[in-house]
Amino acid sequence: MKALVLSGGKGTRLHPLTYTNAKQLIPVANKPVLFYALEKIVAAGIYEIGIVVGDTREEIIAAVGDGRQFGEQVSISYIHQEQPLGLAHAVKLAQPFLQNDRFLMFLGDNFIEEPLGELVAHFAAPDCLDHAKVCLTRVEAPQQFGVALLSEEQERLVRVVEKPREPISDLAIVGVYLFDAHIFEAVNAIHPSARGELEITDAIQYLIDRGYRVSPHLLRGYWIDTGRMQDMLNANRTVLSQMQGALAPGVEIDERSCLYGEVVLEENVRLINSVVRGPSIIGRNVVLENTYIGPFTSIAHDTVVMNSEIEHSIILEGCTIQAIGGRIEDSLIGRHTQIYPTQGRPGAHRLLLGDHSSIGLMSA
Ligand code: TTP
Repeated sequence: MKALVLSGGKGTRLHPLTYTNAKQLIPVANKPVLFYALEKIVAAGIYEIGIVVGDTREEIIAAVGDGRQFGEQVSISYIHQEQPLGLAHAVKLAQPFLQNDRFLMFLGDNFIEEPLGELVAHFAAPDCLDHAKVCLTRVEAPQQFGVALLSEEQERLVRVVEKPREPISDLAIVGVYLFDAHIFEAVNAIHPSARGELEITDAIQYLIDRGYRVSPHLLRGYWIDTGRMQDMLNANRTVLSQMQGALAPGVEIDERSCLYGEVVLEENVRLINSVVRGPSIIGRNVVLENTYIGPFTSIAHDTVVMNSEIEHSIILEGCTIQAIGGRIEDSLIGRHTQIYPTQGRPGAHRLLLGDHSSIGLMSA
């Protein structure tokens, strides 16, 4: 078995962060989202991994490299998709890498709890009759997802519909799929959708219509598609709440500071008159001074926070955050951001924001 991980795309829902950065590298508990997917794949016993990359390929290649950090046997091939023309288009491009092997396809911004070993072993077995297996999960608002309708005995998919107006089923298609080489027949036969993309749901429907066996797998545990900020915070909260506290070498905590609950402090973190309430993670070389960090917060390396309060947020690396009055909550703050109080008169907010920024200020 091989794996195909999709890490191209536009990431429009996470603008402006994703104008310049890959959304798959936004950290969840200080580790890129994509790394969770790669770890899951390797834990399932798949070592030959193709990663589809787009405009942000250099950044992804720099972070993942040859993949050895995920295991000695791991080998990574990068497949360049010049334009994000759809998930099925990415599969088409990957055919020279995948050849005739069965493969696991994983969307690089998706986050699942269930280990994949059993599922992969079942699909790889010589007696497996499935041509494809699609992971599904029950959702409350099926109209926002691609959904699947199952046969009476629940053993096969009979229809897939993208964002159905009528709720035909509450089973959303999760970004984890297993295919055999028949998928290439499908992706080569379908046409772009109204939004100009080759849709994986159309390719799956093609397989169903041709009588190929497409079976469901009902996912255990959570599934988070980290496409929007709230989903990122949700993923961060989920991972942090399963984490155990730990202090790395070089941590300095002065006598006026304290930690409550599960807190991870990475190398050389300095706490000066500050409180961190877990579950939270503070990255290497971060300095916290006269500061309160509340639960479900991740602060990436080399950030300085002074005279501030932050809770339920993800702060990327190299930021400087200083007293602005009021607590920062439910926020996702990009790299090297500076937040500071303005001095002098007239008192005003002075902002330098990228396109499509979103900033919520407390009204006076
Ligand atoms: P999506 O989240 O569906 O698309 P997107 O990344 O363009 O985001 P947005 O809707 O906010 O603009 O993509 C799911 C995953 O698949 C994600 O990791 C990006 C990747 N992808 C590709 O690699 N190639 C593609 O052509 C598309 C559409 C997505």
